[in-house]
Amino acid sequence: MRQLIAGNWKMHGLTAEAESIVGPLRHAGVLERDLLVCPPATQIAATVRMLAGSGVGVGGQDCHAATHGAHTGDISAPMLRDAGAQYVILGHSERRQDHGETDPQIRAKTQAAQAAGLRPIVCVGETDAERQVDRAFAVVGAQLLGSLPDSFTGGAFDGIVAYEPIWAIGTGRTATEADVAAMHLFIRSELTRRFGAAGQATLILYGGSVRPTNAAALLAVPHVGGALVGGASLKAEDFLAIARAK
Ligand code: 13P
Repeated sequence: MRQLIAGNWKMHGLTAEAESIVGPLRHAGVLERDLLVCPPATQIAATVRMLAGSGVGVGGQDCHAATHGAHTGDISAPMLRDAGAQYVILGHSERRQDHGETDPQIRAKTQAAQAAGLRPIVCVGETDAERQVDRAFAVVGAQLLGSLPDSFTGGAFDGIVAYEPIWAIGTGRTATEADVAAMHLFIRSELTRRFGAAGQATLILYGGSVRPTNAAALLAVPHVGGALVGGASLKAEDFLAIARAK
């Protein structure tokens, strides 16, 4: 299965910056991995236009669980779809922390995304303190159970899971290959137990200080289906170096 390199721009990307990131991606040529950019909501429609015909996907960074309504400042999954997005990141640790998002809320958003025809990228990951006391697997297991819907109309969960240990996000401290291998194997077994063959095929991305220098090693770990890249996705050169890493 082809690996996916997804860029989470977070709260970065004025028009000029978005153009400088996206421009080189349009002319990247043939790659062995798929590319996805998730700009802030204000740049989604323009990014979709700039990337038309390039094969590079576009996604949102969050959505509301409802399709529409009195929710000032929120954006629904059908709105993202309408703007041309194909994916949406859900349950990122920054949303869990900054906005107090809970597993049941993330599960509802995941169902809303699937119903709107978006592929959800559901994020899970433990804090440093939880890892120190050997709770990493318990925490991630509970997040998977709580955040992923059992099924949705028409079939099993067809989204993507991203393992992002919180202590590795934006810190330059990457998880060791052994830690990534153990957690991705655990996530794979949980997904297979719940979703059967669909769980075997689910892409499991690693995120947390992925850089051009460590990408090849991380992407070679079994059950790593790609990367969710923050800081390094803001420079087209670095993002493409990650996508090409061997
Ligand atoms: P960094 O790559 O900046 O560590 O961010 C990872 C992340 O949170 C991607 O969603």
